[in-house]
Amino acid sequence: MAPLAPIFRTAYWVVFFGISLYALALIALVNPWLQRQVLYAHKIRSPSWWFDINKPEQFGFAKNQVTPFNFTTPDHETIYAWHVMPLGLYAKHESEILQQPSGCAEDITNTKAFKLLRDDPEARLIINFHGNAGTVAQGWRTDSYRALSDGSTSSIHILAIDYRGFGLSTGFPTEEGIISDGIAAVDWAMKIAKVPSDRIVILGQSLGTAVTAGVVNHFAERGTEFAGVVLVAGFTDLPSLVTDYSIAGWIPVLSPLKPYPRLQKFFTSYIVDRWPSATRLSNFVRVSKRVRLFIIHSKDDYEIPWYHSEGLFAAAANATTDGGIDSALLEETKTMSTIDMGDGAFISTWKAAGSNKIIREEIVAYGHHSRVLTYAPISLAALKAFDLDDGEAVPL
Ligand SMILES: *[C@@H]1O[C@H](CO)[C@@H](O)[C@H](O)[C@H]1NC(C)=O
Ligand SMILES: *[C@@H]1O[C@H](CO)[C@@H](O)[C@H](O)[C@H]1NC(C)=O
Repeated sequence: MAPLAPIFRTAYWVVFFGISLYALALIALVNPWLQRQVLYAHKIRSPSWWFDINKPEQFGFAKNQVTPFNFTTPDHETIYAWHVMPLGLYAKHESEILQQPSGCAEDITNTKAFKLLRDDPEARLIINFHGNAGTVAQGWRTDSYRALSDGSTSSIHILAIDYRGFGLSTGFPTEEGIISDGIAAVDWAMKIAKVPSDRIVILGQSLGTAVTAGVVNHFAERGTEFAGVVLVAGFTDLPSLVTDYSIAGWIPVLSPLKPYPRLQKFFTSYIVDRWPSATRLSNFVRVSKRVRLFIIHSKDDYEIPWYHSEGLFAAAANATTDGGIDSALLEETKTMSTIDMGDGAFISTWKAAGSNKIIREEIVAYGHHSRVLTYAPISLAALKAFDLDDGEAVPL
């Protein structure tokens, strides 16, 4: 056995080194600035580094189909945004649009694309809140805008923003700051682009679902309701997420501490931005008169487990009745209105009797964490949100 001893010794040091590194990383993350760097990863923007996000045709859009522009928030941050126009509408006005200046617009209200959005009573707008890291042009995001706006209708425009600290936007991200950027984007859409809220869908993915929950809750409390709300790959709240989240699907955050709940609790108490989406969504559902909420998650999402969407659904459904529903009855009622889609996929539709509130949970079998954004169920949800049929009434 003697020749194996050095290997064991090496293995011992590797394990020791690994555990020390993990412990040091956890201790370092108690620092709010570092914590936010890791959570938002707003400085990580490959491959947008090699691309110019002011040239959207580098991401496959038609020339001037996208208008990059800036708007400002009430606390004076400059937010970078893209207005993506539907391809069908672009085709009808192509020669005029091609003559427009390109790049980041000095004044978007002078562009043909903006006028088509503002002046068309049929125009619909999806306000898109992306996940952490990167920019409006990162990864599958650009494909998702095309999937949503190049489809069967030529009336769906997209407004995508980079939160403060991301991409070309100014500032540093915090929960409160990012939500106020989202609110400012909706205000821009309603006040500058003059799109009424019943022609607006708010769509978020991953961290963007938490932004969406904050934004729709804010507006619901002020009596403004949207055509629909679509949450893709969301999570109930950040402390619950980090206990089972793995960065990029394989770097665990707090899951190695699972056998030590008190240690987990100790570290989660240091989380500065807690993003309580389940609580915000239930409040949103409670104060709204009309709700069209779509909660979509892929079974093969290795970054955020799909059962987080189960939690969001339960919180939202529970809020459709005055006193709440006990969880056994909720499960039973949910099962009665669930359609099995095969391969573990299903759709549950919750419609509270006597109310105009529909909550739909769709667990799809494929799509991972981000690519799912480009898949048909997301576009379908947006189409339904804009013009939903009566859902199946669920007896309560
Ligand atoms: C938009 O804002 C960014 C950041 O402040 C700035 O660098 C850029 O020049 C602005 N673009 C325009 C067209 O105003
Ligand atoms: C359900 O709603 C009731 C009252 O609205 C609340 O007290 C309860 O905590 C909720 N339950 C869950 C699981 O959210």
